[in-house]
Amino acid sequence: MKIANDILYVGVNDHDVDLFEGHYIVPEGMAYNSYVVKGEKTAVMDSVDSHFTDEWLGKVKEAAGSPDYLVVQHMEPDHSGSVMGFMEAFPEAKIVSSQKAFTMMANFFEGEDFADRRVVVKEGDTLDLGGHSLSFITAPMVHWPEVIMTYDAQNKVLFSADAFGRFGALDEIGETSEEDDDWACEARRYYFGIVGKYGLQVQAVLKKAANLDIETICSLHGPVLVSDLGYYLGLYDTWSKYESESKGVVIAYTSVYGNTKKAVELLAEKLEAKGVPAVEVTDLARDDIAEAVEDAFRYDTVVFATTTFNNGIFPFMREFIDSLVERNYQNKRLAFIENGSWAPQAAKVMKGMLEGCKNMTYCENGVKIMSALNDDSRAQVEALAEELAAAYK
Ligand code: FEO
Repeated sequence: MKIANDILYVGVNDHDVDLFEGHYIVPEGMAYNSYVVKGEKTAVMDSVDSHFTDEWLGKVKEAAGSPDYLVVQHMEPDHSGSVMGFMEAFPEAKIVSSQKAFTMMANFFEGEDFADRRVVVKEGDTLDLGGHSLSFITAPMVHWPEVIMTYDAQNKVLFSADAFGRFGALDEIGETSEEDDDWACEARRYYFGIVGKYGLQVQAVLKKAANLDIETICSLHGPVLVSDLGYYLGLYDTWSKYESESKGVVIAYTSVYGNTKKAVELLAEKLEAKGVPAVEVTDLARDDIAEAVEDAFRYDTVVFATTTFNNGIFPFMREFIDSLVERNYQNKRLAFIENGSWAPQAAKVMKGMLEGCKNMTYCENGVKIMSALNDDSRAQVEALAEELAAAYK
């Protein structure tokens, strides 16, 4: 794939990975993107996962012959896994990266930090390829501390490291954003799963990007973004400010014998009947928790429904709330449904877990189920549905 004058795609698709980063299911596979920038000298932008070293080196040789530089923007092994292979294959090449990245290389590569083959760059430094000048932008914690991004002013291309990435192999989802008809869905799950904790740092990078004239964004994952960049930048702005992107209610639940589930289904039915713009129901024991986390950040309201368990809450709900809190969850309206046959504690425990989160509004109504729904708890569901729906009228 040719991206712009003298910029070629040399990344790989992974259809074998079971859990990306040991954590995320990727039904459409995963892409580890890499690019060649050809001036009088040639630079390769990042390597790929170690399972694809030979395939990648073959593509690099075909596109670049014997490249002069490997730019390492990010040291996570999905990108640094073939650095050693590159440096062995091209013994004259130099490696360009941040000081922090070279420290990480020593940790990853048994002490090898390329002391005599390195070019250390910091904010604002440039690398002149002759015909292309690459300038470097530090992007700490987006999403590791050593990360740099790279801007090619000649072609108005931003190489954005992990930012603007998406789950999915390019032979499934398309090579450019013009072919990808559902970028936001898997980009959002990726963002909130992987980068979501670092909203402040993403905001800092977006401010730097605002000073650049960008026509193309080359992320290390997902398609090359080639048009309507305001859409992608706008979503990253919303996400990193922890603003809700969509109006609607997420109901995240666990249910041991189906009674809590019945209350959730009744609430969902009532919310839909009352015209709530979107109602998303997720079973935390059976559905992808990363998808539930994505929805909880996307929508403005979340109802947590779970069972009292060991005088606390059911394990999948605990994991879900922990996943939100550790990602700086904030700016939401919340409600609780609890079930407890003899000593309901779940609502109190859930509220306690969320109490440090900023700018939360708690509904006046909640639902307490003593084993199974009855007239009293059905009335509580109705009252909660009415309160939730009123906000959208
Ligand atoms: Fe794609 Fe943070 O690695």
